[in-house]
Amino acid sequence: MQNIMLKEDIYYVGVNDSQRRLFDELIPLPDGTTYNSYLIKGSNKTALIDTVDPTKTAILLKNLENTGINKIDYIISHHGEQDHSGSIPALLSAYPGAVVVTNEKCKAELCSMPKISQDRFTVIEDGGELSLGNKTLKFIFTPWVHWPETFVTYLVEDKILFSCDFLGSHYAFDAKDGLFVENTDTIYLPAKRYYAEIMSPFRTVIRKNLEKISGIDVKILAPSHGPLYRGMDFITECYSQWSSDSVKNMVLLAYVSMHGSTEVIALYFEDALKKRGIEVKLFNLGDADIGEIAMALTDAATAVIGSPTVLAGPHPKAVFAAYLVKALRPKTKYLSVVGSYGWGGKMVQQLAEMLGSVGAEIIEPVMVKGYPGDDDFASLDALADKILQKHKGLGLV
Ligand code: FEO
Repeated sequence: MQNIMLKEDIYYVGVNDSQRRLFDELIPLPDGTTYNSYLIKGSNKTALIDTVDPTKTAILLKNLENTGINKIDYIISHHGEQDHSGSIPALLSAYPGAVVVTNEKCKAELCSMPKISQDRFTVIEDGGELSLGNKTLKFIFTPWVHWPETFVTYLVEDKILFSCDFLGSHYAFDAKDGLFVENTDTIYLPAKRYYAEIMSPFRTVIRKNLEKISGIDVKILAPSHGPLYRGMDFITECYSQWSSDSVKNMVLLAYVSMHGSTEVIALYFEDALKKRGIEVKLFNLGDADIGEIAMALTDAATAVIGSPTVLAGPHPKAVFAAYLVKALRPKTKYLSVVGSYGWGGKMVQQLAEMLGSVGAEIIEPVMVKGYPGDDDFASLDALADKILQKHKGLGLV
């Protein structure tokens, strides 16, 4: 890659991974991603801000070589996850004078995961500063965005905030064509998907971290995934809305069907909700994109899982959906289940147990024996009425 300068003496040395389609063997990446890394040359010292996924180490090393700077003093490691820290061992070999600058929690992770030697660290504190000569790095701890050790770094003289995962997006871009978000409409959904998938379980602490960085004069926001922002108003306002307690007059309806009965139930129920003016996000769990489900959970006042009974319990894909809801800890206020059974089973009880810890009120499910008949459709209408009343109670209608 040719030299990409963010500003004088500040280089973008990150890597575009536009072909990656899955993160953590779980999260779809429809737009690929980038691992952003930045080299800052001060008058006395040089610092590298984060590294890249270990599969891309060679490209990072080449990008660094292209800058013509052959000495790195500090590697700032904001986060122990390997997509940012996985190249650190190779960097420490290539630049033997470098030390890793991080906090105590991240140091512990880096000693246990990439197995970095204890004597290659400088440990920093919240609010601490590190001088590069004519440039100053100020460290601000922002825990749980999205691991306990995460922090951000403010380059004081240039007013650049390096935020690592926080406020980023999985959106591949070609750095030589430009580093910045030029159209916020383009980045809105990738940023929301990213927030929903990895940040949303920590929304309470996200609000605190937004507050903590709110007074900083940021001219450039430089995350470690996705394009950079001029200023941070757009993305922090998005995060404020997504992490707030507010929900929409919306139902997430995620179902799986084996022989068609649960699908008839789900489609009827979708129609019943829509007739009552409720927006529905319908997902067939057979091929649903979990990023889309996570985004719907960022907004929906109610989530309903539809499942047939199999082996006396919920379908495993419905269990997966229930687990996802539980893991994402959404602000969803109401939950319910619709589904079918042939001869019996404990499908509803098992799903309700899984969803119990979410903290939402569980509305009486509708279970259908076999294929739905008139009485069952009436029960689905009654459930739609109950949900409408609940949403009215929240002031959403
Ligand atoms: Fe981009 Fe949590 O790593």
